[in-house]
Amino acid sequence: MANKHILIVPGDGIGQEVTAVGKLVLDKIAEKFDHHFTYDTALIGHAAIEATGNPLPDESLEKMQQSDAVLFGAVGHPKYDNDPSAKVRPEQGLLKMRKELGLYANLRPIKLFDELLSASSIKPEILKGADILFFRELTGDIYFGEKGRTNNGDTAFDHAVYSRFEVERIGRKAFEAARTRRKKLCSVDKANVLETSRLWREEIQKLALEYPDVEVEHQFVDSTAMMLIKDPTRFDVVVTANLFGDILTDEASQIAGSMGMLASASIGDGTGVYEPIHGSAHDITGKGVANPLASILSVALLLDISFGMKTESELVISAVDKVLKQGFRTRDIADANTATANVLGTAAMGDAVLKFI
Ligand code: IPM
Ligand code: MG
Repeated sequence: MANKHILIVPGDGIGQEVTAVGKLVLDKIAEKFDHHFTYDTALIGHAAIEATGNPLPDESLEKMQQSDAVLFGAVGHPKYDNDPSAKVRPEQGLLKMRKELGLYANLRPIKLFDELLSASSIKPEILKGADILFFRELTGDIYFGEKGRTNNGDTAFDHAVYSRFEVERIGRKAFEAARTRRKKLCSVDKANVLETSRLWREEIQKLALEYPDVEVEHQFVDSTAMMLIKDPTRFDVVVTANLFGDILTDEASQIAGSMGMLASASIGDGTGVYEPIHGSAHDITGKGVANPLASILSVALLLDISFGMKTESELVISAVDKVLKQGFRTRDIADANTATANVLGTAAMGDAVLKFI
């Protein structure tokens, strides 16, 4: 039995709906294993701007720092996408949270549940057995370098910056993970063009000497983008920079059938943050059709990584597996073979998972 304090940060759009289901899963686990979980909530993103004018109020940050883990929804609002001149943006809250909490490693497991082979747009014989763990660096690169305008606003720049220690700490995490898996690490960069990538490659090569049992390859990001679709099973652990990781993991989500299936863990110096990789999806917000499985699988990562509750975590994953085996689907992962009665909304999908826990 353990006492844990969890901060729920729903954010915007479907973030509200999917974290509500994630919390029910946490409650169920607490009940079953006799743990004591307490909760609080905090604002971020557009919701926080509306309430306070700030996409990450100090109060939210303090609550995050004081909790044992954060279950996160999504941030974003279409109104900003069409207004590039907006000075205050929901995403600033997310980036500030990553920086302030020192969340330098973003783990994005891309695992295809067998039952979803046909939900992907990639041929089943190419996909079968795909199981990739991405380590995306999360607090450096072009995301956090100096940015601005010169030439009376007619020229814009974003600096990509990496220091050795930043590459080393994420690299180490990726090597350690590879050791517990199939012992293969692919480091992705653009070392034929970028100086930050050459530094990246030097550091990964140095680290490789300490992990002789791990087979390392270096790939350029463009060819990795191609190989992910052509031959996804060749990858085990992939480690890459912030921007490349952002793009490649959205691409790789198609291996898992839908973005609605993918969970992520952001870890580093302090409190870990667990969230779906999908966004706020305002086109379906409030309709009750969002897929809650990514949030539920984020709970599984939270239990395992932040709380060391392996059994609890595996139970959540196997409950998701069973629900899929029974034929239940949300809209995004349904196909022509799915019976209409088996297409569930957000809450019903959550209930179906709870029944197997
Ligand atoms: C992600 C998202 C964010 C990112 C956005 C919302 C700022 O796409 O977490 O992958 O680019 O990191
Ligand atoms: Mg992204």
